[in-house]
Amino acid sequence: MSRPLSAAAVAHPNLALIKYWGQTNAERNLPANDSLSVNLSGAQTRTEVRFTSALTDDDITLNGVAADAETRKRVTAHLDRVRALAQIPLRARVTSRNDFPAGAGIASSASAFAALSLAASHAAGLKLDASALSRLARLGSGSACRSIPDGFAYWPTGPETEAYARQLAPPEHWELRIITTYFRRTAPKMVTSLEGHRAAPTSPFYRARLAQLPQRLARARNALLDRDLETIGPLVEREAISLHAVAMTSQPVGHPEISGIYYWAPETLAVIHAVQRWRRDGVPVYFTLDAGASVHLLCEAATQPTVEARLTSLLEDLHGTYFISRPGRGARLVA
Ligand code: DP6
Repeated sequence: MSRPLSAAAVAHPNLALIKYWGQTNAERNLPANDSLSVNLSGAQTRTEVRFTSALTDDDITLNGVAADAETRKRVTAHLDRVRALAQIPLRARVTSRNDFPAGAGIASSASAFAALSLAASHAAGLKLDASALSRLARLGSGSACRSIPDGFAYWPTGPETEAYARQLAPPEHWELRIITTYFRRTAPKMVTSLEGHRAAPTSPFYRARLAQLPQRLARARNALLDRDLETIGPLVEREAISLHAVAMTSQPVGHPEISGIYYWAPETLAVIHAVQRWRRDGVPVYFTLDAGASVHLLCEAATQPTVEARLTSLLEDLHGTYFISRPGRGARLVA
């Protein structure tokens, strides 16, 4: 096996249209339900990995700063998976940079583990196909598996052999715009998505959500393939609210101070209300939320200027800002 020993890769975060919430296997990040996503071209992680005999420990720098203990543990565990697969004993220098601000409500772990998986496996001399790479990324962060293929992805439940993301449609399939809003004044979230997944089954609504999902996903998938925003928009909104209804009624372990997980901030609800008003005025724009206060808006390219004009004045009041994405490419090696 030839080993380049160093490689660099980029990946985008992805936004789930039908979301992953709850697991059947927490160690291996096997999801309790199928999910559907789109890569966000407007945000990117670039990661460089260099295996070297000069190090006795992995050296991990994120956005120019040495990684904290928790992150180090997670990244080293991921490098260990690559080392085991490639039978390479060397420690690595990892340098990773996001071009989007931390606290923007974008889970950087999806793009981070997608880029890390590709850069580290290539540097170690592994030639993983897209499904093996997606499975590897999943072990680092569940949703990272969906940042491997280009464009729109589908990640089914199932055993290890099936639990990887497949491309549902390429980026150019649909001239969709995703407008990600975030707020400067919201506090960091109190409960991580990992804790949220684990708490989900404690919600009395969790089973009901899982029972609804196959039908919702099938309809959303068809609407996506048909580029039918008026059909997929309400499905995506109801899906996000369903996840948050479960979160708000679930009890995370180790958090006796809270009753239910509230990822929303007052600004979240203000944007949701505004989107509903804009739609009443005839503007076809829809919202979705992940495990955070940020709101992502979906519209077609032709509607973008109208949405931006309305959003700009709303966000002034909310001390918020936004960035715009198109459906993005998957993880790829760079020079
Ligand atoms: C709400 O377990 O992938 O975004 O590893 O913390 O980034 P992190 O999250 P992960 O859960 C993502 C949950 C979600 C929904 C989704 O992306 O499907």
